[in-house]
Amino acid sequence: MIFDPSALKELGLWPLWRWRGAPDAAPSAPPVETGRGGAPCEGQGAIEALGWAGLGEAVAACSACPLHAGRQQAVLGVGDRQGDWLFIGEAPGAEEDQRGEPFVGQAGKLLDHMLAALKLRRGDNVYIANVLKCRPPQNRNPLPEEIAHCAPYLMRQIALISPKVIVTLGRFAAQTVLQTTDRVGSLRGRVHRCGDIPVIVTYHPAYLLRNLPDKARAWEDLCLARQVLEAG
Ligand code: URA
Repeated sequence: MIFDPSALKELGLWPLWRWRGAPDAAPSAPPVETGRGGAPCEGQGAIEALGWAGLGEAVAACSACPLHAGRQQAVLGVGDRQGDWLFIGEAPGAEEDQRGEPFVGQAGKLLDHMLAALKLRRGDNVYIANVLKCRPPQNRNPLPEEIAHCAPYLMRQIALISPKVIVTLGRFAAQTVLQTTDRVGSLRGRVHRCGDIPVIVTYHPAYLLRNLPDKARAWEDLCLARQVLEAG
């Protein structure tokens, strides 16, 4: 596997960090977290029956929590609906709310570099979504009740995309997808499951912009995700 040096430089990982798999060797089986293996990753109620069109309409019209009152638009997600990769962030920020697309601000630029380091591009075999579809005011953390209302939309997206691997970005995505209160630091480095789908936990790009040393750990997580996908 060859990675793009310029993308790795951008991540602060070149030349120290390289893909660990030998080019011709079959990847060794990554460690699998068995505690939650096969745990249900279910949608809820009527949302479970929606196709993409219905889901888009439901999210655009959603008024289940007070966040709807402050949005320019709901942000469903972007990318390849048949993608092998699903990246899940936290919630739209100001720019995402304006443009209707996830991860278009500074954190989004870093996410694009992370994708490029994996030889991936937004929209090409990759789907990007958030836990919340509406912007929290002042970009505050999502509240539990907001997540409770919005998570069924995410679960439906997961079911419709049926990706080969899910990468959660940050605490809220990991905790929502894995239904845990554990922190990213204790969840990363191993393979979890959302139903049958492997889940890799890593840091949120906005966190990585403030904590440069953890970029190397994020790169390890992305390499693990790639390994899991190729082994699957
Ligand atoms: N933009 C998003 O769309 N999601 C995040 O989690 C952060 C920024």
